Amino acid sequence: MLLSGRGSNLQALLDAGAASWRVALAVSNVAGAAGLARAEAAGVPVRTLPHGDFAGRAAFEEALDAALRAADIELVVLAGFMRVLGPDFVARWRDRSVNIHPSLLPAFRGLDTHRRALEAGVGWHGCTVHFVRAELDAGPIVVQAAVPVRPDDTVEALAARVLAREHDVLPLAVGWIAEGRVKVENERVVAVDPGDPAVNPSQ
Ligand code: GRF
Repeated sequence: MLLSGRGSNLQALLDAGAASWRVALAVSNVAGAAGLARAEAAGVPVRTLPHGDFAGRAAFEEALDAALRAADIELVVLAGFMRVLGPDFVARWRDRSVNIHPSLLPAFRGLDTHRRALEAGVGWHGCTVHFVRAELDAGPIVVQAAVPVRPDDTVEALAARVLAREHDVLPLAVGWIAEGRVKVENERVVAVDPGDPAVNPSQ
């Protein structure tokens, strides 16, 4: 799990738990990120890799990659990780990394999504879990959740409504991926046929 701040999505994963996956490592580029304390409280190993300590993005991403490999990470989950990952890192973890973004992509890529949604006057807003690609906030969509935008909404109220759904869909997506229930085909996420003997030898 890669994070830079609060770590409520990490907490959602920790709380959800499942037989098919576990959070094996929490990495932050920000020392003292609240999410790291949540991981520590749950007994999850943590690493801090302050990006400013590295000569450049390549060196930072080498260290990040090494930390993930050392922990035998199978799926990298980005939630509030405030560094753009370069094409080499993204290629290495292609289809083995997901990001959660607080909008119904492809609408409102980037920051400040809730304010921008209110300003745009959309009727629905939400969140997206997608496989990571080099382009920011883009990639095959695993799952989305929509929430209504209310006429009297504030940024804070809308953000809270979306965040509650983030905490539902992130564990859902991680479970589907861990259990091999979805795959990327032609840059779309498709459900895997559970009757396919290549997937489920007991069928
Ligand atoms: C979430 O809204 C996530 O969608 C976005 O950053 C926020 C992180 O929140 N990418 P938290 O650190 O998981 O509480």
